[in-house]
Formats: sequence, C-alpha cells, structure tokens
Amino acid sequence: MIEAFDTRQAASRAAAQCIEKYLLDDLRQKNTASIAVSGGSSPRQCLEALAATDLPWSQVKVTLTDERQVPADDPASNEGMLRRHLFSDYATSATFVPIDEAAGAALPLPFSSVLCGMGSDGHFASIFPDLARREELLAAENTHFCSEIQTAASPYKRITLTLASLLRSRVILLLIFGEEKRRVLDNAEGLPVSALLQQTQTPLRILWAP
Ligand code: 6PG
Repeated sequence: MIEAFDTRQAASRAAAQCIEKYLLDDLRQKNTASIAVSGGSSPRQCLEALAATDLPWSQVKVTLTDERQVPADDPASNEGMLRRHLFSDYATSATFVPIDEAAGAALPLPFSSVLCGMGSDGHFASIFPDLARREELLAAENTHFCSEIQTAASPYKRITLTLASLLRSRVILLLIFGEEKRRVLDNAEGLPVSALLQQTQTPLRILWAP
C-alpha cells in the first residue's frame, strides 16, 4: 500500500514523525535506540525534520544503509550528507556508527526504524540490479551485516547493509519522490526493490510524493 502525499515536504514530515515515534518507544523501553538511513537526496528533508525534533539524541546511534567508499568530506559521501542534514540542532548529540562488519555488534538491534530510498533502476541501499551477488545480498539466510560491492551503476566502490540486516528493524520506511520512480515502484517485478516489497518479516511503509 503506497501512501501518496501532495508534497515531498509532507511525505518527509510523515516519515520523520514515524521515525520519532519508534525512537521514543525504544528509548522509553531500552534507554538506547538505533536507526539506519539511506544516502542520496530523498532523505534530506526528513533528516532535517528529525534534527529539529527534541528527543534524547545522545542515546541514539545512527548508521547508513549504504555508503560510497569516498572520504567523508567528499560531496558524494553519505556520511557527509548525514552530518549536514541530521547531525545538527537537537540531533547533534547522536552517535554516528560507520558501516562495517563490527557495526552490527555496536548497534542496539533491531533498529527502531530504517529509512530507505530507491533508485530509478529499482535499487535500494546499494543492492543494484546488475550485481552478480545480488541474490546473496537479498538472501534471508545471509548472516553478514554488510558487504562491499562494485557496480557499473556507480563510479565508487560501496558498502551496503544486506537485506537481512535492513529487516532487523521494527519498521522500514521507503521514501520515494517523482513520477518516474512511482512507475518503477508500480512495476517492480524482478528489480531488487521487489524483495523489500514482497517480504513479510518487517512492517513496511511506502511514502511517495510527486
Ligand atoms: C545511495 C543511496 C541509494 C539511494 C538511491 C536514491 O548511496 O545512493 O543510499 O540507495 O537511496 O540511489 O537516491 P536519491 O534519493 O538521490 O534519488
């Protein structure tokens, strides 16, 4: 079920409110919480809305769903995007956890929430259609927290959480903008994102705006 919003701001705000709800619930229960957020441009307004939200961010650990293997000060860095759009205002005190195999043990799992975007080729995180190891990254029994990948679709080597890691969350939000991506979403059969749409392990919210 796709939740359609009139504006990208409204969809971003709804996503931020959902993330806030799950964070506060976990913080009340465990005094700690974690989220994973995607890179790219779609999450920016949502992250800015979260940054402006007064919650105990010092108890929150934040990681990425995937990262381009570039320096953090490179414009292509997802960590850099995160630091510009989330780690400000109230959220300055949150802790960033870089993606590596050890992060799985450093984070309070399951995630309170995972925020994913989607490329117009149907990739999410860095699980791209052309990956030879795509099915391995999507396999429910894959015990690796993350994996390094290289794809012709990206000029950078990347590291991505596996689908099994992304599903270790109380909820997954898929935040998608534009008519082209809506068409991709409506015809996702055979694309990596279809694995996310078809899984029944973790509640999924799809938020879309033109
Ligand atoms: C990345 C992202 C990736 C992103 C899609 C959509 O590192 O590129 O994590 O999975 O979500 O490529 O990107 P946009 O939001 O910029 O369209």
